[in-house]
Amino acid sequence: RTVDVSGLVDARGGLLDRAIFTDEQLYRQELRRVFAPSWLFLAHADQFHKPGDFFTTYMGEDPVIVVMDKGRRIRAYLNSCRHRGARVLRADVGATRNFTCTYHGWAYDLDGKLVSVPNREGYPDSFDTDDWGLVEVPNVDSYRGLIFGTWNPDPVGLRESLGDMAWYMDAMFDHDDEGTVVVGGVHKWVLDGNWKLAAEQFATDWYHVNMSHASALMVLSPTKNPKTEIVHRAGRQYVGTNGHGAGFPVHPKNRFNAKTVHEWTDYDALRERLGDARVEGPLTDGHATVFPNFSYLPVIGTIRVWHPKGPDRMEVWSWTVVDKSMPPEVREAQRLYNLRTFGPSGIFEQDDGENWSEVQAISHGFITNTVPLNYQMGLGSEREDGRHPGTTSELYSDAAGRAFYAHWRELMNTPAWHEERNQ
Ligand code: FES
Repeated sequence: RTVDVSGLVDARGGLLDRAIFTDEQLYRQELRRVFAPSWLFLAHADQFHKPGDFFTTYMGEDPVIVVMDKGRRIRAYLNSCRHRGARVLRADVGATRNFTCTYHGWAYDLDGKLVSVPNREGYPDSFDTDDWGLVEVPNVDSYRGLIFGTWNPDPVGLRESLGDMAWYMDAMFDHDDEGTVVVGGVHKWVLDGNWKLAAEQFATDWYHVNMSHASALMVLSPTKNPKTEIVHRAGRQYVGTNGHGAGFPVHPKNRFNAKTVHEWTDYDALRERLGDARVEGPLTDGHATVFPNFSYLPVIGTIRVWHPKGPDRMEVWSWTVVDKSMPPEVREAQRLYNLRTFGPSGIFEQDDGENWSEVQAISHGFITNTVPLNYQMGLGSEREDGRHPGTTSELYSDAAGRAFYAHWRELMNTPAWHEERNQ
């Protein structure tokens, strides 16, 4: 059964029904109508250097293999054997010549083709291995080394779906012609809380910083004086058309939190390449979400996915991304800075996880669930500011959150390609 969610998201009035975080049926609908048709982050290009390099991840709750094929093309397959449905690849990351299922031994090559079937002679003549290859993700594309895939066979292109968000993303991923690389492994941890709580916060919520992160900000402050760190800052928030969002303080002077990275950074070259507006804004601080569940923090060097694991739980997967041109000691400084702040035990990450789990924990209460949430900050403030592309709002605003949920509502109320085919 499909639910019309129009009454649950009042994007114009800035009100949200908590059922969207707790309802099992809405969650199933999300998997069908939000995750299945959307471009979802899969991996970073630096994770693949030779044919057979693979990484296993999820699209929504669907397990997928991301792999470089023999033609060095990145492809993605549903990680489920066509025989009885076991995972054909159970490793997180590695290199392989083919995928051999550990249940009965069916094996698939890097093109997803079924190439080996034990006791093949036991099958009828009508059994054709060509019919039983891995199910392939029909569209995989990348932007600035970030690989995305969608199950939608006829999607709006990745670049087009990013729209003006690409300008903001470039502030982190396009510092020079060499691009970015990944350092260290992928950190994974589980949080109690609906995935949207994290995704919307990274899209829209600078408001929580001064309160939730007050103690962490003081620890990092050279003066230990809260007034130097815990202040309201000038800044802007990008309000994306497809649910994307980004917020950033505007710094008249260059500001970078990791000292070693700051000292290495050639701001003049960056100003030349990206312009003053980006260097003084989204390059030196801020947060962002590419709808639905890919987020990043430019100054921290983290990119992450909020994998949905039921309405009440998410799994966070986090990478440290640095400029390829960074020397080893600068990369290491960025990696450690990311770990200390937004790693699984980072001092900021703890604050956020606690908030999301707390919101989720009480939202199942019968009365609680009937009381709407407020997303009214900056209502009516959305405009073009002439310095940053697209529609923007104040730094302290819920505008990108309202846009996030407006897009979510639109997808939830629109039959996806797999439904249209059945009608
Ligand atoms: Fe994979 Fe049987 S489930 S070979």
